[in-house]
Amino acid sequence: MRVGLLTGGGDVPGLNAAIRAVVKRGEGQYGHSIIGFRNGWKGVVDGDVRPLGRGDIRNVLSQGGTLLGTARFHPHRNDGGLDAVVQTLEAERIDALICIGGDGTLHAASKVAEAGVPVVGIPKTIDNDVWGTDASIGFDTAVTIATEAIDRIHTTAESHNRVMIVEVMGRHAGWIAVTSGIAGGAEIVLAPEEPFDIERIEKFLRHRHRAHASFSIIVVAEGAIPAPGTAMEYETEVGQFGEIVAGAIGERLKAEIAQRTGFDTRVTVLGHVQRGGIPTAQDRILGSRFGMAAIDAVTAGRTNVMTALRGEEVELVPIADVAGKVKHVPGDLLQVASALA
Ligand code: F6P
Repeated sequence: MRVGLLTGGGDVPGLNAAIRAVVKRGEGQYGHSIIGFRNGWKGVVDGDVRPLGRGDIRNVLSQGGTLLGTARFHPHRNDGGLDAVVQTLEAERIDALICIGGDGTLHAASKVAEAGVPVVGIPKTIDNDVWGTDASIGFDTAVTIATEAIDRIHTTAESHNRVMIVEVMGRHAGWIAVTSGIAGGAEIVLAPEEPFDIERIEKFLRHRHRAHASFSIIVVAEGAIPAPGTAMEYETEVGQFGEIVAGAIGERLKAEIAQRTGFDTRVTVLGHVQRGGIPTAQDRILGSRFGMAAIDAVTAGRTNVMTALRGEEVELVPIADVAGKVKHVPGDLLQVASALA
């Protein structure tokens, strides 16, 4: 078999573990040819191929990023994009395509599947918001990095008696904010799932700083917003592709809290630090399991599915069921974050 492989959307630590597993199992055990495409769907449209063999995956397990490169490019949103994808795959005699990506890449994969190409998706995103799987590659590393950052910010917050705002990624779901907020002991966690009331935050901070503490940590997801009808005016700032502009909510909150309370307030936007560097053991393991499950599925002719972690097992779910949905943080986890304030 000739199996195509791409990584699309934002990179995450753990992608190389998945690529390595596909190549090791696919070439080494099944005798398939693994044909990588550079820079996600863009490489498929442009016919930019990189055949992958055992030599290409040596020592990549601990490396962040993706050895195939990636891009935010959606063939179905570009004129003639889907036709170009099909043409390249025919020219390269690709029997099935493994697509490693987040919601955008997997949505494109479901469109390509509708066009008649057998595909298997692998979920990755530090945001952990891909529907249908308990975990996506990259999330664990991002939470680990964010938690360490909050630990570091704690000591300086306390020394300077400040309110410290830590803005983390998470446009549509607050998984990183909630989990790193719990692990890092944040006083307040703000996630897109629960729009906030600035007056309640002000009251909480005033009480805390009067009663028993001189500092506070607020973790805010980049997609968090004030509840409609509450006192803070804020329009989510979006970039040219409709993406939420990092830093906007953190800076806005900083100004609002400083002005309302008079407390010395600072903001740290963690940004792409959360996506860089070496993957945790958990992300290497998840990447390896998903890569193996994907090449096994392709080999068995089980396509148009996505690998998914369900409890302890890796299962296959129909890719059409996943596209266009967001996995939100459940209420009980949000409650833990607020109950520990
Ligand atoms: O999609 C994952 C993500 O890390 C989001 O949390 C973040 O908003 C976005 O990517 C940043 O994208 P880019 O790297 O294109 O600026």
